[in-house]
Amino acid sequence: MEIFTATDYAGMSRQAARLVSAQLLLKPDCVLGLATGSTPLGLYSRLIEEYKNGDLDFTEVRTVNLDEYKGLAPGNPQSYGYYMRENLFRHINIKPENTFIPNGLATDAAGECARYDALLDSLGIDLQILGLGENGHIGFNEPGEVFMPSTHLVGLTKSTLAANARYFASLDDVPVYAYTMGIGSILRAKRILLIASGPKKAAALRAALYGPVTPALPASALQLHGYVTVIADAEAMA
Ligand code: GLP
Repeated sequence: MEIFTATDYAGMSRQAARLVSAQLLLKPDCVLGLATGSTPLGLYSRLIEEYKNGDLDFTEVRTVNLDEYKGLAPGNPQSYGYYMRENLFRHINIKPENTFIPNGLATDAAGECARYDALLDSLGIDLQILGLGENGHIGFNEPGEVFMPSTHLVGLTKSTLAANARYFASLDDVPVYAYTMGIGSILRAKRILLIASGPKKAAALRAALYGPVTPALPASALQLHGYVTVIADAEAMA
């Protein structure tokens, strides 16, 4: 595992963008695994900037997102589909048909999980970008008793609902279920980039990197992967 400390959020975003850009330059038709949340916003802004400067081309890139809320349509401003369009896709030359995200409106949950797993198998992720939940979750893999191998529907924990309530009118509006890639799906990515920022992530980051590998702290599974890069700012690394 390679661990880099950036001075602040801007530095973390800059370093992360360098790594993603390098991936795109080395393999223009790569498959990127994407995350949502506030942490990757700076990274996405920098990728947009580099695209606008003519330094990046997304024509052949395909993307798969980690997760999506159950019950939200892609047009819903709180959905991760909407987040991706607004914060990245509509600003770059990626083909919409090359971007994939679980269908929050699927009525057959098991069918949707199987569909997403088949998609992940056929694509194969070259670089998976991850944020980190305050309770150590990655994607929406919440602390539990087992590492989930594949895409599944998950009931969100109180801590995650509270952390994500800032994007909704009230806590009651936060969907309580979400589709997420499993830990197994994440570990099958060829390379993983974990980014973390701010003091609220410090405890989870320390446990993920230096604690025991346990489903009680889902990000600790990353210790089992051979090619993980962690870029965190000084507050998260504290
Ligand atoms: C959310 C997302 C995760 C994200 C995490 C941290 O619940 N499902 O993919 O990494 O929480 O979010 P943030 O970056 O806003 O702290």
